[in-house]
This record gives sequence, structure tokens and C-alpha cells, in this order.
Amino acid sequence: MLSRLDIHDLAPLGDGIHRAGRERIYVERTLPGDVVEAQIQKPSGGIVRANAVRIIESSPHRVKAPCPHYDVCGGCTLQHASEEFYRAWKVESVRTALSRQNLEPAIWRDPIFLPEGKRRRATFAAFKKKNVVTLGYFRRRSHNVTDISACLIADPAVMEMRKKLAGALTPILSDGKPADIFIQMVGTQFDLAITGAVGRKDRPDLTVYEAAAELAHTLGIARVSWRSKDYNEAEVLVEVQPFIARFGILDVPLPPLAFLQPTKAGEDALTAAVMAALPERGTFADLFSGCGTFSGAMLARGPVDAFDSVDPAVRALDKAKGPHPLRAERRDLGRQPLDADETKRFDAIVFDPPRAGAEEQAKALAASAVPRLVGVSCNPVTFARDARLLVEGGYKLDSVQVVDQFTWSHHVELVAAFSR
Ligand SMILES: C[S@@+](CC[C@H](N)C(=O)[O-])C[C@H]1O[C@@H](n2cnc3c(N)ncnc32)[C@H](O)[C@@H]1O
Repeated sequence: MLSRLDIHDLAPLGDGIHRAGRERIYVERTLPGDVVEAQIQKPSGGIVRANAVRIIESSPHRVKAPCPHYDVCGGCTLQHASEEFYRAWKVESVRTALSRQNLEPAIWRDPIFLPEGKRRRATFAAFKKKNVVTLGYFRRRSHNVTDISACLIADPAVMEMRKKLAGALTPILSDGKPADIFIQMVGTQFDLAITGAVGRKDRPDLTVYEAAAELAHTLGIARVSWRSKDYNEAEVLVEVQPFIARFGILDVPLPPLAFLQPTKAGEDALTAAVMAALPERGTFADLFSGCGTFSGAMLARGPVDAFDSVDPAVRALDKAKGPHPLRAERRDLGRQPLDADETKRFDAIVFDPPRAGAEEQAKALAASAVPRLVGVSCNPVTFARDARLLVEGGYKLDSVQVVDQFTWSHHVELVAAFSR
């Protein structure tokens, strides 16, 4: 049975919300002001969802989604919102998260919205059937792979590479078994990592090694790696040349599947905001450093201690340091945060945790005497929780800047400066 639902609000993941008393129904791809005819689903995990089948009245914020694949692709959740609404909503989501923790920065810096079409990393779902490889994205509400010829958020060079790859992957992938193909681009270099079954026995054999070498040489890919499943360390099948990223004064040879900011412009904007919040000279720590996105820039101002839990990232940074005063340490900052004593020698500390935030590390920093802290976050809710701990420990929240490099998604980033 279909129901008529008014959409009142937008949830943090970008779904429209219909409210009736205490009841909430989440309707994806709708906006406040929409009135829709929708099929209500059975509740799952206490959450009620509905699929809109028709828009009865259109929200004043609604626009025609620019992507031709918008209706079938499971990506971009907010392409149907006007730019004005979308931008205001992103900034508001950060404000709301902060105000729920009773936080208000002394300064709101102007938000930065970066253009679409610049994503330099993408994971495509691959499926080989009867010797034909489909390489695309998952369809909305489905586990089927759809062959997407255009993607407005990805860099056109990444999409061009995807097109060439489908045929070249045929001798590598196992028939009838899904795999993920991760493409990462730095400058004009490409890195490729396959996760899933390859070859006749689901792991690399001679044919796979030969086809990977052929693919790398003919398509100009620096390296091809493989791992059987997520979270395993990838094994290099072929490396034509080192895959190198320049961070500040460092050239870092990136390991397979290295974390990188999704766009170069985003990396630059975040780095500029971090550097603006740091003193001109000093001794620094870079917590959750990855391969050194910020460490490389910070090194130009003084010695840096970098910490991350991922061994290949730490090894890459250590290898890149050359004569510079950089120390890279593998450390799980959730289990073993830097304590007040260890932080004494730093003039400033940068922390850029994953979405789960840095609760344990924030508790330890709250008890430290470090004069300046800079937080970078891709999750305003966990950031606000951690910022609350710092403020309760005596820090002042000096500024917050919203940086949006995840165009048309609900994701948003921020850089915040604290002092004591
Ligand atoms: C958002 S990324 C930031 C990386 C880096 N700052 C950059 O901009 O490229 C978060 C980083 O935290 C690391 N990480 C995740 N959990 C961790 C933990 N418990 N302890 C230390 N590092 C962790 C990840 O390996 C990843 O490099």
C-alpha cells in the first residue's frame, strides 16, 4: 500500500525524514518540502524506511540531478538538492553536532566547497561472467553491479582508466566471483589494487602475474597489487615504478591501498588550514598521520613525530624521511594514546582520526599542557564528542572551518584549532 508522506527534515545520512508524532520514517532521495507517495518498508533495527515512488509536490530546494545514472547508481545521495540548500545543510550539520555538545567556536572560518569531478580514488565492483568483465558501481538497493559510463564526482582520468581496465582484467579475475578494483591516481601516476578471487584457484598464478604485468605496461599503471579480502595487506603483483606522493617537503612512496585525501584540492585545503593553525616554528606531533599528508608540510617548520596504526603507512613515511627530523611510529592510539608526559615536548599536535574519532587520545590530550591542538575530522559527531573532552580539560575552541570535498554525499570534513 502506498502512503502520502510530507518530508520535514534531512537526516545526518542525507535521507528525508517524515515525522508523525514520535514516529519517523526515512525516505531516501527526498528533501524537506517534498510530498511523496511512498511504499513503507517493514521496520529494520527499529528504523522505518519508505521508498518514494512518486513526487506529489516538489520541495523548493529540489533540482534535476545532473548525473545520467542518478536513478540507478547507489552513489551521490544529494544530487537532487540545490547548491544553496546543499551547502547550508552541510555547514548546519557541523553546527548542530557542535551545539549538541554545547560548543561554539570563537571564529567560524569561511567554508570551502570544492568542485566535483576531482576524486582521484575510486573502488569499482567487478564481476566476470562468461569471460566478460563488468566494472561499475552497485545499483541502488541492490547487490548487482551496473556498468556506469560516466561519473560526475570521479576525475575523468580515473573513469577513462576504468574503461580501459575492463578488458585487461579478463585474464586476471576468477569467473563468477566478485572482486573490488581500487584505482588511485597521484599526478599522472596510477595505482591499482584488486581485492577478491583471481586466477583459477582464487589466488595469483602465472597467468595472473603475466596479465598484471601486461596490463601495467600497456595502460601505464605504476603498480598492480592483490589481496584476497579487505584488511589483508596487499601483495604486489607488478611494480613498474614507485608510486609517489609529494607531501610538503617529502616524497613518499605510497604502499598499495594507501589512505589519501580523496581529492588533491581537498588535501591542499586541509593542509593549508592545518598549517594556518600551527606556530611558525616548533616541535610537532602528527597523530593518525597516514602516509604523512600533514607531516610533510609540518616538517618545513620543525621536527615532527608521526603516529599511525597501519604498518605500511608508517614504513613508507620512515623510508621517505631522508635527512629530515621526522620520527614515524606504529601505534594504536586508541589502546595506547600519547600521554601527558609524552606530549610535553610538543608545541602543537595535529590529530586526524578515522570516522570513529579519537576519544581515548582526546582524554589524554585534555590532560596535557600542549599549547595548540589542531583537529581534522570527517565526522562532526565524533569530533564534537572529542572536542567536548578537550574543552572540559581547559582548551578553548578557537576556530572551525568546514571543508567539503565529498560533493553530493552526506560526508563533510572540518579543521578545528584549540589553544590553552
Ligand atoms: C582520516 S585518516 C588520516 C590520515 C592522514 N592524516 C591524511 O590526511 O592522509 C585516519 C588515519 O588514522 C589511522 N588510524 C586508524 N585507527 C587508528 C588507531 N587506533 N591508532 C592510530 N592510527 C589509526 C588510519 O590508518 C589512517 O591513516
